[in-house]
Amino acid sequence: MRVTIFKDYHELSVAGAGRIADRITRFQGKRPFVLGLPTGSTPLGIYRELIRRHREEHLSFSHVVTFNMDEYLGLSAGHPQSYHSFMWENFFSHIDIPASNVHILNGETRDPEGECGAYEEAIRAAGGIDLFLGGMGEDGHIAFNEPFSSFNSRTRVAILTADTRAVNARFFDGDINQVPRAALTVGVGTVMDAREVLIAASGRNKARALRGAVEGAVSHRCPLSCLQNHPRAAIICDEAAAAELEVGTVEYFRTLETAIREQAGGDACP
Ligand code: GLP
Repeated sequence: MRVTIFKDYHELSVAGAGRIADRITRFQGKRPFVLGLPTGSTPLGIYRELIRRHREEHLSFSHVVTFNMDEYLGLSAGHPQSYHSFMWENFFSHIDIPASNVHILNGETRDPEGECGAYEEAIRAAGGIDLFLGGMGEDGHIAFNEPFSSFNSRTRVAILTADTRAVNARFFDGDINQVPRAALTVGVGTVMDAREVLIAASGRNKARALRGAVEGAVSHRCPLSCLQNHPRAAIICDEAAAAELEVGTVEYFRTLETAIREQAGGDACP
């Protein structure tokens, strides 16, 4: 696993967007580049920077296919707090991605199991996910895979913990009762199948989860710790999120980062 610590949220957002833009631009596949995407406050800076690169630097998403991580069960696509609305408002409406390339689970489905199975099949048919961008829950969850989710889990219905619903109540007028009790989510196994995983973490409230993911044992207690077994996983975080890492851990990753950059020569996003 690679961990890069940036001074603040702005720097990590610019770097995260840079890495995604680099992968999209470099991709010479015979099929589109397949990008997994999250919602939440953390990726907003990355989305803003990608939009800027689209507008000012001609970064194109016409050859990108996306799969979002999750969606609340029971919310219509048009609901203001649905992840459909979030993604179109904050990202897709501002870039040149064809609507038919966007995949988001249907929270209003009458057949959740069928919907989840079809989603896994659609990912397979697209050639698998090249890069999965993700955020991190305060309890170490990834997508909506709460603590104790199986590392082999696939796209499915997940029951949200009271903690996650309380944290997300800020998007529902601060009222936890309005936060859905369940969601459709890709599984830990679905994320692990991606060729590359990039997780962004910002703020002191993520420090405990980050420590669990990086320094803790690989355990379903902290779903993000699964990344320790991924061949190409990276966490980008700011200093606040890294606050609970041991001094030696921070020093190790800083040294590693310098070495990677030196070896990469002119490569801006090794
Ligand atoms: C929700 C999402 C996760 C996201 C998390 C953190 O639970 N399902 O995918 O990582 O929120 O969100 P934020 O970035 O707002 O802290």
